[in-house]
Amino acid sequence: MTRTIFHTATTLDGYLATTDDALDWLFAVPGSDEAEAAFGGFLSGVGALVMGSATYEWLLRHERLLDEPEKWAGFYGTRPTFVFSSRSLPPVPGADIRLVSGGVQAQWESIRDAAAGGDVWIVGGGDLAGQFIDAGVLDEIRLSVAPVTLGSGKPLLPRVLGADRLTLVDAKRAGQFVELVYAVGGTSEA
Ligand SMILES: NC(=O)c1ccc[n+]([C@@H]2O[C@H](COP(=O)([O-])OP(=O)(O)OC[C@H]3O[C@@H](n4cnc5c(N)ncnc54)[C@H](OP(=O)(O)O)[C@@H]3O)[C@@H](O)[C@H]2O)c1
Repeated sequence: MTRTIFHTATTLDGYLATTDDALDWLFAVPGSDEAEAAFGGFLSGVGALVMGSATYEWLLRHERLLDEPEKWAGFYGTRPTFVFSSRSLPPVPGADIRLVSGGVQAQWESIRDAAAGGDVWIVGGGDLAGQFIDAGVLDEIRLSVAPVTLGSGKPLLPRVLGADRLTLVDAKRAGQFVELVYAVGGTSEA
């Protein structure tokens, strides 16, 4: 059965990136091999990816994907990737990139069908993951918490969720990271 999972690395104080979308703090964490091995296991169960435009554009820039498009398949295989944006963004040549906009509810059936029984990975950012919670379709949050604070930046999850909505189902150490898994339950207030 398809599950929808927001899986991301985060700082200890709840940021996904600096305000100008830098991730240097993440790559500076020493010995990330264990966290990467755990991520490989997760990705094998993923059927489709979802991300916002800032995340997609970061990938385009950082990995120079318009010049070296073959790198995309090395990261994500042939999985369909839904990019939420109100703008017209360039697709990575050869990759199955689907630009979408508007409410999650309107896109949900296509996203779930594209996953073909695999899981849907919400890559980020935090507000987009929140939109999936608002739509009642996010099942799980998986966090790799880095030993870093930034003080400000792009928020992990700008929503109010009490302990009635989140249940800790796993916690373990992976090198310098803590891997936390929460089940998301209940429904959002309209
Ligand atoms: N730490 C990690 O492992 C990790 C993981 C993921 C991401 N990141 C980083 O974190 C940052 C996240 O950036 P962000 O918080 O700005 O989030 P984002 O979700 O990547 O991008 C937000 C943008 O997506 C578009 N968007 C979102 N929802 C939409 C909707 N329903 N319809 C149409 N467009 C929609 C909007 O831009 P437009 O309409 O203008 O296109 C919005 O400004 C990035 O720098 C990314 O690289 C880090």
